[in-house]
Amino acid sequence: MYDDNPTIKGLSKVIDETKQGQVFGENVLVEEIDKKKFYIESYGCAMNFADSEIVASILHKVGYTATREMEEADLILINTCSIREKAEATVRKRLRVFSKVKLKKKGSLIGVLGCMAERLKVKFLEEEKLVDLVVGPDSYRDLPNLIAGAEGGEKGVNVFLSREETYADISPMRLMSNGVNALISIMRGCDNMCSFCVVPYTRGRERSRNVYTIIAEAQDLFDKGFREVTLLGQNVDSYKWENPETKEVVSFAELLVLVANVNPLLRVRFSTSHPKDITDDVLYAIRDHHNICKYIHLPIQSGNSRILAKMNRTYDRPWYEEKVKRIYEVIPDCAISSDIITGFCSETEEEHQDTLDIIKWAKYSLCYMFFYSERPGTLAAKKYEDDVPLEVKKRRLQEVVDLHRLEGFEINAKDEGKVFEVLIEGNSKKSDDYFKGKTSQFKTVIFEKKGDYKPGDYVNVLIETSNNATLKGRIV
Ligand code: SAH
Ligand code: SF4
Ligand code: F3S
Repeated sequence: MYDDNPTIKGLSKVIDETKQGQVFGENVLVEEIDKKKFYIESYGCAMNFADSEIVASILHKVGYTATREMEEADLILINTCSIREKAEATVRKRLRVFSKVKLKKKGSLIGVLGCMAERLKVKFLEEEKLVDLVVGPDSYRDLPNLIAGAEGGEKGVNVFLSREETYADISPMRLMSNGVNALISIMRGCDNMCSFCVVPYTRGRERSRNVYTIIAEAQDLFDKGFREVTLLGQNVDSYKWENPETKEVVSFAELLVLVANVNPLLRVRFSTSHPKDITDDVLYAIRDHHNICKYIHLPIQSGNSRILAKMNRTYDRPWYEEKVKRIYEVIPDCAISSDIITGFCSETEEEHQDTLDIIKWAKYSLCYMFFYSERPGTLAAKKYEDDVPLEVKKRRLQEVVDLHRLEGFEINAKDEGKVFEVLIEGNSKKSDDYFKGKTSQFKTVIFEKKGDYKPGDYVNVLIETSNNATLKGRIV
């Protein structure tokens, strides 16, 4: 699970998910047959997936319908990620495939969206001759104009980064949905300056979305049968929306409670929390609301304070440990997950040992692990030498992965014999006789079907066995 960015933030299954999830490709209305079609693939973090749903909505309004077959698309879009070199290489590879398709279908267009579009700007058009559109994350409203221009043979570029745009009024078209879980963007951009990270450059300044539109979106999803929403931002704890009329300010903890109050049957998740910003009020909101999930993604990046300072994370190891202790103190049954980077500039063998040590200490239920990939333009690229050899970065990563795997068996074994409330998400991958679902702690549970239960229902499951990745049990 390294090199690329898997799971919810994930790259690896994206193409499949995009194909599975076409909500409107299936039931094309007769009058829609003549409509123009778009095909979209998404890479990178959950925010990019949420953005693709905004793009789908914007295109739908101007008469496009979605297709899962790129060969029949008039417009092929790729929503890109720049977080690591490998992510960009994946996009380039996909562009080779799209180019072949475009050459076969006269008049079709290729558009590059997202973070890589923002990072490379007009250079993209020079490097990739068959690309027609380059559109950054804050410019999706301009897509219809840019497409019209491109149809007339004019290449279109808009990479303007806004201080206000939150797409608050756009109701996203749920492209990748199982009808149970949905993503809601609550903010955009990032004002932190982690030295390794390209996001502040590709997504611009942090801004929070109007609270009323967030609640309305959650309510609408609930009414449509969804039972879980994930509130998204690069640093959700610094969510802060000021009502322009009353000047009243809504914090993240308050927003969580407002969304939880939409309905007790709607589960609320959020990602990502920054260790420096998560407050006790957020922990109390989780503790006091059954439907706010007992799961916090709290990336540490490195277990060593000198490296953390160099990464400009603005906390050190003792501060992080205090946060973790506080979480377990307020919410004893909370699960915590993390992101780890190995081989950051000048990291020594002992400092790497500190990262292994924090993995043992923190009892992470999940870990997303990467080796450091220098990104042009970042503080680290400007200030520090990328001096840990690739094979050392990879070896350290393997050690982190192996350790976390081992720990995972132990951590999950502790759930055996306990009963968890599980939200059913669908059939298990291996057998239609089994359901898969999640606990509040974001652990996947597999269990045999029984009664009339269906996806979106809650069931109590007694955990009987486990491994490092899943729990297995039976409905009780
Ligand atoms: N906003 C989130 C992270 C977003 S990026 C946060 O602050 O935690 C997701 C993860 O990618 C990061 O947590 C980090 O572990 C990893 N990452 C970011 N830049 C990277 C780089 N240059 N090389 C390797 N991994 C990186
Ligand atoms: Fe990147 Fe740091 Fe912002 Fe996360 S908080 S997006 S790692 S700059
Ligand atoms: Fe990638 Fe951009 Fe997200 S760089 S991780 S898609 S914010």
